Amino acid sequence: MIEISNLNKTFNVDGNTVQAINNVSLKINDGDIYGIIGYSGAGKSTLLRCINKLEDVDSGSISINGTDITKLKNGKLRAEKKKIGMIFQHFNLLQQKTVFENIAFPLKINKYPKDKIKDRVLELLEYVDLVDKIDAYPSQLSGGQKQRVAIARAISTNPTILLSDEGTSALDPSTTQSILELLKQINNDLKITIVMVTHQMEVVKDICDKVAIVEKGQIVENGTVEQIFTSPKSKTANLFISSLQGDVQEDIIDTSDYDGKIVRLSFLGDSAKKPIVSDLVRKFDVDVNILSGNINKLQQSKVGHLIVELIGKDEEIQNSIDYLENTCKIVAEVI
Ligand SMILES: Nc1ncnc2c1ncn2[C@@H]1O[C@H](COP(=O)(O)OP(=O)(O)OP(=O)(O)O)[C@@H](O)[C@H]1O
Ligand SMILES: [Mg+2]
Repeated sequence: MIEISNLNKTFNVDGNTVQAINNVSLKINDGDIYGIIGYSGAGKSTLLRCINKLEDVDSGSISINGTDITKLKNGKLRAEKKKIGMIFQHFNLLQQKTVFENIAFPLKINKYPKDKIKDRVLELLEYVDLVDKIDAYPSQLSGGQKQRVAIARAISTNPTILLSDEGTSALDPSTTQSILELLKQINNDLKITIVMVTHQMEVVKDICDKVAIVEKGQIVENGTVEQIFTSPKSKTANLFISSLQGDVQEDIIDTSDYDGKIVRLSFLGDSAKKPIVSDLVRKFDVDVNILSGNINKLQQSKVGHLIVELIGKDEEIQNSIDYLENTCKIVAEVI
């Protein structure tokens, strides 16, 4: 388990203090694929770099399976860092070295038995489906292939944690999907906990179990992806969800154009299957005007959003909303 408690990190830039991480606490369980999403400058990379000890922290602790890594030095630190692999947006491969040499590099540093290095590299290349590129140089590979090499390198020493800092941000959508599939496979086969820093809600939706939303160095909201999709509380979470292609664009619905109440309905899993609109019309003296709707497939379930106008007496509208929330277990929010 990764347990971050009251973490603070500042940078000094030309005499000004920038608070990159502001009192962050977060628990990431073994086996999670945990997303960390936020806009540029929110502090995502800094948080990841603190977990990997690429940055020293000002205060707070980061405990990995009970060991506070912020306090470790030298040999003990190296031993802990061996358990954490990392991949980056721009792959960070050694340009002058072949694919084989890139993957063998951490094995050599970590004193892997010399006569077994070749077999280990081949095994990793088979896993990421790139055996035929063993002698190629990074410049001869596509973006997706480079990231596969970087992933093979990151998992070569059998880490228990893999950190990804925008690992798919430089890739086109179909290559992104294939890298996300590979990461999911790694999480499943090798039981590696994955922490994914991203600014793409698509990535969170497609691969993460849980997500933390970071704003100005603070976590403004976190929970399961289903929770955040069904009832986002922060403005930032709402904006990220509406950034999804085909999502309900509530910003473009001008509520003053309508006489009734505009309500955003969010339903999860089984509640998505219920014929709620016809139910409402039958049970209450209201009319329902559908303005917009969509459905998003998450890891374990589906989340639907529907924006409707409810027309009728205030009391009937309130009864409908109560019915939706209490009986249908749908989140109904008047906007
Ligand atoms: N080495 C550094 N020196 C000075 N300031 C830094 C340094 N690294 C980060 N910062 C500052 O800390 C804040 C958080 O930066 P960080 O790189 O963690 O953001 P981010 O969420 O990863 O953004 P992006 O999505 O653009 O990668 C920013 O204000 C940034 O300018
Ligand atoms: Mg960053």
